[in-house]
Amino acid sequence: MGKRFYITTAIDYLNGQPHLGHAYEKVVADVIARARRSLGEDVFFLTGLDEHGQKVQQAAAAEGKPVQKYCDDLAADWKEFTKRLNFSIDDFVRTTEPRHKSFVQAILTKLQASGHFYKAQYEGYYSPIEETLLTEKERLTDGTFDPKWGEVIKLKEDNWWFKLKDEQQWLIKHIEDNPDFVYPDYRRNEVLGFLRSQHLEDLCTTRPISRLNWGIPVPFAPEFVTYVWFDALVNYISVPAALGDPVVNKVLGKSTDGPELWPADVHLIGKDILKFHAVFWPIMLKAMGLPLPKKIVAHGWWQKDDQKLSKSTGNIVDPIAVINEWGVDAFRFYVVRELEIGPDGNWTDAGFAARYNSELANGLGNLVNRSLSMLRRYRDGKLPATSQELAPDATKAITETVARLREYRLKAALETIWALVDRGNQYVDRTAPFKLAKDPAQAQRLDEVLYNLVEVCRVLAALLAPFLPETAQKIYTQLGLTTPPESLSTLAWGGLKPGHQIGEIAPLFPRKDNPPA
Ligand code: MSP
Repeated sequence: MGKRFYITTAIDYLNGQPHLGHAYEKVVADVIARARRSLGEDVFFLTGLDEHGQKVQQAAAAEGKPVQKYCDDLAADWKEFTKRLNFSIDDFVRTTEPRHKSFVQAILTKLQASGHFYKAQYEGYYSPIEETLLTEKERLTDGTFDPKWGEVIKLKEDNWWFKLKDEQQWLIKHIEDNPDFVYPDYRRNEVLGFLRSQHLEDLCTTRPISRLNWGIPVPFAPEFVTYVWFDALVNYISVPAALGDPVVNKVLGKSTDGPELWPADVHLIGKDILKFHAVFWPIMLKAMGLPLPKKIVAHGWWQKDDQKLSKSTGNIVDPIAVINEWGVDAFRFYVVRELEIGPDGNWTDAGFAARYNSELANGLGNLVNRSLSMLRRYRDGKLPATSQELAPDATKAITETVARLREYRLKAALETIWALVDRGNQYVDRTAPFKLAKDPAQAQRLDEVLYNLVEVCRVLAALLAPFLPETAQKIYTQLGLTTPPESLSTLAWGGLKPGHQIGEIAPLFPRKDNPPA
């Protein structure tokens, strides 16, 4: 087996329940993962949880639970969440797992031996809520710090630092030479702008256990723990290592023959953690002697009703509540249809209901339902002879959808698919099969129309499968097909054979005229 298409997401902090932002990122990753599988690649999709750090420790304390117990209980909810959202993950990493912790320690040991760390005293400012050391650069012109840092305290302590200072030039060159390294383009320019205009400061990688103990003990300095970047980022290679990835294990002097995952093909992350992924992570990897990831894809942030998502103000979208009310595919559809990867988005309940009704219920649902119902009514549910009338439209939709998927333009891919949905609905209106059915002389024309409509439904199911896996399967079942929707790699017009008998028909997206306020 060769190198697999390895896609990762950010691993989420475990200090609450998953919200819209977390769900969005993983839906996008899942669409990419499913699309790549459908295009014939051997995909490995990893997501998981970032369980160390002060916020998790505090959240556990607030619930009066031992931290590990708090993490175990909550992690069960997050794992369940991946199932409810139908994520096709291949593994789920938790940074408190032994397989992850032992790998982090092995990497720290290796990097210490090769001189990448040094111990030094830090004297300066610290933001407890953001768990970040602040430098003079963070100071505003009036000498204060931005309110986002919360209460800023003075701190004087020893820590272990990772050398970044001399790594700037090769990284600039790497990003310049590899235009695909960061997507979208404007995020790549942001990283280049940052690297060209500022000197990198060395990275503080530890905390003294006297101040924080919920981290991974540093093997060469047991009075310290590491967390955040030398813990969280390393998940992308600790899981491959545990599974026996030969490339990753080689840096630890081990020879293994498990799945070939590294380098990652895509790290999907939010725009807020781009610097860590496009600057610090490549430098860490180079120090380890590992190849860099092929692509970092940075998505935008969601708001609701033009306000920041916030638990404290109650401005949240609970994905599970939405799914319970509208179905998992309605949620997946809305977030991908609304927002291309890159810009920020704004959730409104009215916008969600409007898309549900117009695009899912009246658009796709209606097309499938009336096409199959007419076949049942006029031809006892049996496919007539093959016809090519809508073949050019379907072929165009297939080619364009595949191209958009490869370009990470998922919203554009859905627009392409909906052009075919609209074409199908217009075709019903123009050919008026209900009139043709009344005229025996038009029997052959009715056969043609019915074949085209039902085959369009099949093509749509296959195109939609990465986005709306449950709906795609339902369409296939209603078509009387017992296989999963056809792969994008082979999809072509004419898959339904004359004489084929369709299955039970049921509405896909019942119209909701009075959505809850
Ligand atoms: N634990 C770190 C990531 C470590 S990756 C090695 C972290 N966790 S997080 O829970 O704060 O965020 C996880 C992901 O969710 C990030 O990619 C972040 O950008 C994304 N989002 C968090 N809030 C979001 C929105 N409101 N909208 C869209 N995505 C958002 O950062």
